[in-house]
Amino acid sequence: MIRQQLRRGLNYARQTVVGRPALPVMTRLIRGDQRASTFFAAIEFVNYEQVPGDIVEFGVFTGISLALLAQGHRFDDKGMARRVAGFDSFDGLPPSAEEHARWREGACQTNHAWHPLAAPGARVTPEMTRELFAACGLPAPELHVGLFDQTVPPVIPATYSAVAVAHIDCDLYESTRSVLTGIAPALQDGTVLLFDDWFHYRGNPHKGESRAFTEFLDAHPEWQAAHYRSYGTFCNAFILTRK
Ligand SMILES: C[S@@+](CC[C@H](N)C(=O)[O-])C[C@H]1O[C@@H](n2cnc3c(N)ncnc32)[C@H](O)[C@@H]1O
Repeated sequence: MIRQQLRRGLNYARQTVVGRPALPVMTRLIRGDQRASTFFAAIEFVNYEQVPGDIVEFGVFTGISLALLAQGHRFDDKGMARRVAGFDSFDGLPPSAEEHARWREGACQTNHAWHPLAAPGARVTPEMTRELFAACGLPAPELHVGLFDQTVPPVIPATYSAVAVAHIDCDLYESTRSVLTGIAPALQDGTVLLFDDWFHYRGNPHKGESRAFTEFLDAHPEWQAAHYRSYGTFCNAFILTRK
């Protein structure tokens, strides 16, 4: 009892003199990102339902969402072995024929997000993501650097023959079209598709990610999409099942 009181007193004194200890990096990521609970739910879903395949992300930027996805799998993998892979040019947004209120070519070249380690304004690199994973004690992700049209076809389905969860966070119609065409051979009955930018373009269903997914479903009548969750400010998730 006395020792407990002493320990509390010492802790209080230390916090008063040197300040509160910083929260672990992953705790800060989870608290700071409203998408985290949906990432964790999606991974729990594929692990529980035993949907085979890897966790892949298209649009990594500084690695925050990829680290959260990896953390979701680390929480409780239910015996499912999965790789965590990210695809990005790390050069920011390519040009698009669709005009958005804010986005311009090259946006996302520098750190503007809440990366807990990188300086605001620092040039985004694959190393930034690797450092974030290391700081969270996560195994290094597999990163594929370049435009999706060039990086996806050589590895899907050759290296990644099955995809259980795809986080599609590349903003643009053209980029999303490349991603969906590229991952088609690896899709599974039960694959969760997380679209980060679904309601951008003021919610216009004929633009952006929403347009690309509608066109994909029209071109692939073997798949049907069940709505899973709307989350965050702009995001929407679906589960694919075979007809
Ligand atoms: C909004 S950021 C991703 C944010 C990240 N998922 C997060 O939540 O922290 C969009 C990323 O998509 C990438 N991107 C967009 N289109 C691409 C393409 N066609 N090929 C490769 N990368 C692309 C950009 O380089 C940029 O880093």
